[in-house]
Amino acid sequence: MNLEEKIGKLKKEKKAIILAHNYQRPEIQDIADYVGDSIELSHKAMLEKDAEILVFAAVDFMAESAAILNPEKKVLLPTLGARCPMAQMLTVDEIKQAKSHYPDAPVVLYVNTLATSKAYCDICCTSANAVEVINSLNADTVLFGPDRNLAEYVAEKTGKTLIPIPEWGFCPTHLLFQPEDITVLRQQYPSATVMSHPECSSEIRRVSDFVGSTSKMCHYAKDCSAKTIIVATEEGILHRLRKENPEKRFVIAYEGAVCPNMKLTTLDRVYTALKEEKHVVKVPEKIAKNARTTLEKMFLVKS
Ligand code: 13P
Ligand code: SF4
Repeated sequence: MNLEEKIGKLKKEKKAIILAHNYQRPEIQDIADYVGDSIELSHKAMLEKDAEILVFAAVDFMAESAAILNPEKKVLLPTLGARCPMAQMLTVDEIKQAKSHYPDAPVVLYVNTLATSKAYCDICCTSANAVEVINSLNADTVLFGPDRNLAEYVAEKTGKTLIPIPEWGFCPTHLLFQPEDITVLRQQYPSATVMSHPECSSEIRRVSDFVGSTSKMCHYAKDCSAKTIIVATEEGILHRLRKENPEKRFVIAYEGAVCPNMKLTTLDRVYTALKEEKHVVKVPEKIAKNARTTLEKMFLVKS
């Protein structure tokens, strides 16, 4: 049996499913039961009533959210070091400090945060629903973290004041895109459309035809009439885009846009994780209880 077959056999035996983020390696996306963006993965994890084990081919905060929402299931993260650096950029102390300066402002946190921080916010959001979440609040000034670019994007869309916490939270991978790269590619492919993730800088967003979460980009790519699409997000998404749209051409806006943490998940590690049932992601109930409320509130917002 090859590794894929061994994984398939273990999955059946253990009633496990594999949830993979859109940035995962192609071979991981191909064995996954479901491939999606961060909100879709959390949602899917909640709907999988029969599964006893959820293998999260993704980064730490995504697996943590699944563990918070599914305390009765075993959530496995194949590689312990698969951490999103942006999620580590906001501490509970920083939230408390910001709150002391703006006591009336609600705290909205991007799901790219650790569970300890989520427990201190009013409501979570993802890049797919951030605009709707902010619009749902009866407040004109909001504390928002940790991604400053997403905060700026949402402020533009809602007309509200978003105070970034920390002041300069960012994704190191999305920071790599430069508007000049897109200018060159537009000259090379004059009829191309450009899509980008809201974690990109405002300079990139300004030269984009579409801005959205990873799955929203997948939907846009299917629906738009362009035959060539320039993509400004992590390169792993190209596998799904090409698989779903074999007749279209996808060009990454910068080839070095690789999230090293997303790439830590390999077939070998998924196999070992399933076989040895490691690494179990556990969030202490004291933290999980509050964090769960903030995630559940997010699911109630229509987007
Ligand atoms: P999505 O929710 O759009 O998949 O984004 C998650 C992420 O980490 C982007 O860098
Ligand atoms: Fe975190 Fe950026 Fe990687 Fe997304 S691409 S998981 S925000 S480091």
